[in-house]
Amino acid sequence: MKHPVTIRMLASVAIGSVLILLACKKPEPALKDAFADRFLIGTAMSVPQIMGKEPGTKEFVVKHFNSLTAENCMKWEKIHPQPSVYDFAPADSTVAFADRNGMFMIGHCLIWHQQTPGWVFTDSLGNPLTRDALLARMKDHIYTVVGRYKGQVKGWDVLNEVLADDGSLRKTKYLEIIGEDYMQKAFEFAREADPDAELYYNDYNIETPAKRDSAVKLMRTLQSRGVKIDGVGIQGHYHMDFPELNDIDLAIQQFGELGLKVMFTELDINILPRPENMSGADISKNFELQKQMNPYPESLPDSAQQKLAERYADMFRIFVKHSDKVSRVTFWGVHDGQSWLNNWPVKGRTNYPLLFDRNLQPKPAFYSVIETVKQP
Ligand code: GLA
Repeated sequence: MKHPVTIRMLASVAIGSVLILLACKKPEPALKDAFADRFLIGTAMSVPQIMGKEPGTKEFVVKHFNSLTAENCMKWEKIHPQPSVYDFAPADSTVAFADRNGMFMIGHCLIWHQQTPGWVFTDSLGNPLTRDALLARMKDHIYTVVGRYKGQVKGWDVLNEVLADDGSLRKTKYLEIIGEDYMQKAFEFAREADPDAELYYNDYNIETPAKRDSAVKLMRTLQSRGVKIDGVGIQGHYHMDFPELNDIDLAIQQFGELGLKVMFTELDINILPRPENMSGADISKNFELQKQMNPYPESLPDSAQQKLAERYADMFRIFVKHSDKVSRVTFWGVHDGQSWLNNWPVKGRTNYPLLFDRNLQPKPAFYSVIETVKQP
């Protein structure tokens, strides 16, 4: 009489094991599906990725992301390298890819002090432009680029990084030649070029108190001048110990209270040591490679993976809590191998700032982020 029970037991153990094995083999859930009721999930793609030079990446992006930002090819120096030369091909391919796959395309970026050629600010003899001439040049650039992708690019980073770290207006050529209203004009030109696109101000460290106050004031001032701004992009180039979670929380609340959508537009977490405790994304900085600055040249140890996973989960809990205000979270890159943080602020390091490793495999941080959506 004992026999049948044993067989039944063995059978159920076997079935159980098969189920567990199947469950383990199950492909990971899609990031965009996990957050479908909360906010868009975006990534930034490079031109080689768009050109299909990385096998598997395009399909992978379509699976996990529903918003796309061009990592570089829409920046002024790339898309408009000479006064009468536009190079639209890479941006055209990027926008077409987003279109084909129903992704919310972000144009990055129109007005920025970096990656903008010197000729933008001078005449053909090399003399500084007058205010009117620079305004005309800005208008022409914005009309041409925004106009070309009208209806396809759904949101534009109109102003990128206009505040300095102390919260003052960054001393750029635009500010020097045109004056403060260059910001207002940039929004107006973009609005005229595509009245239906969302228009954003995008910057780093604007969740830290000094810069946050200035950013809030700047948004208020522009709004009081009748400028219609749709959202604020917090770049989100983060570290393990920076910024304070509470500052992220407060930033979402304060920008949200201005009636602005809040988005995290370039999210990554730098887990490597930071030279001089620096933060942000000032790409003009670079430090020499020293061994102690590159502690994980082969792989990230489990303990560090775990810490990264916890840090990501801490942040996503805040994003989810404020999902009435947060409209999008975009990662700055698809996988660790692509990240700019392998070369900034120290060249040649091996960094691990994203949710997917160099083989497009989900890291513990991927699963910890997915878990956060389950909170009430
Ligand atoms: C800034 C810019 C991005 C990119 C990153 C670093 O955050 O907005 O376009 O250049 O720096 O790659």
